[in-house]
Amino acid sequence: MTQPLTSQDRVFVLTGAGVSAESGLPTFRGADGLWRGHRVEEVATPQAFHANPELVWQFYSERRKRAATVSPNPGHRALAELERALDERFFLCTQNVDSLHEQAGSQRLVHMHGRLMQTRCSRETCHIAPFDDERLYLSRAEIPTCPQCGALLRPHICWFGEVPFAMDRIFEQLRVCTVLLTVGTSGVVEPAASFVRMARINRARAIYIGPEEPANSKFFDEVVLGKAGEVLPGLVKELSG
Ligand code: OAD
Repeated sequence: MTQPLTSQDRVFVLTGAGVSAESGLPTFRGADGLWRGHRVEEVATPQAFHANPELVWQFYSERRKRAATVSPNPGHRALAELERALDERFFLCTQNVDSLHEQAGSQRLVHMHGRLMQTRCSRETCHIAPFDDERLYLSRAEIPTCPQCGALLRPHICWFGEVPFAMDRIFEQLRVCTVLLTVGTSGVVEPAASFVRMARINRARAIYIGPEEPANSKFFDEVVLGKAGEVLPGLVKELSG
């Protein structure tokens, strides 16, 4: 039984690919985690885009197509319910680029690794804002160029070697939270893997939920083994008292 929250508690939730697994989106490091024989680290880099933009856009186009067919699961919905109960004492940081948290009703959230359904200019010095885009680009000729500078457009995703989004807000929320709920992430990709240690500097209670122990499990006070969609609805009830 997990100790209920008090009226002083502030909850920081970190989610990873595991929270969307029961909706039908594959995780990165699971058994089916390869894409056409490539590891994600081989296609999710600025270098990969520079060398072969067509291959990178095919990867993200396939993910766009898949993401358009899935719906939130009870795990996403339980987190949205917790947010409704806590209001500004709730913050959700997802590493996922899908929109399932929003579709479940979450509002106080940031996508630290970007959004699958957004596109932006690949030139760092060009400042056109990322825009909503659900189209698929499967050949070199189809990849659009920036209306402002002419460079190729790219997915609005944080690739390996790039700085994640919204880090100021994330660090601030890690500083003030008293409870850290981490769901469905393997605990190997930085900086998210270190959030548990940061939250614990201010003695936050850290709980992990997932079917297997993450690589950083020793930093958690509680590890609840199970699927997000099965564990979270009950856990949210216990936390809400
Ligand atoms: P991983 O694929 O590394 O880990 C998924 C985690 O989800 C594993 O620990 C699984 O045990 C767990 N899991 C599987 N099914 C689950 C379920 N039903 N409920 C709860 N947990 C479940 O994915 P991430 O840790 O999210 O970055 O990966 C982090 C980042 O690495 C991603 O955001 C992505 C990737 O490269 C970028 O694309 C920049």
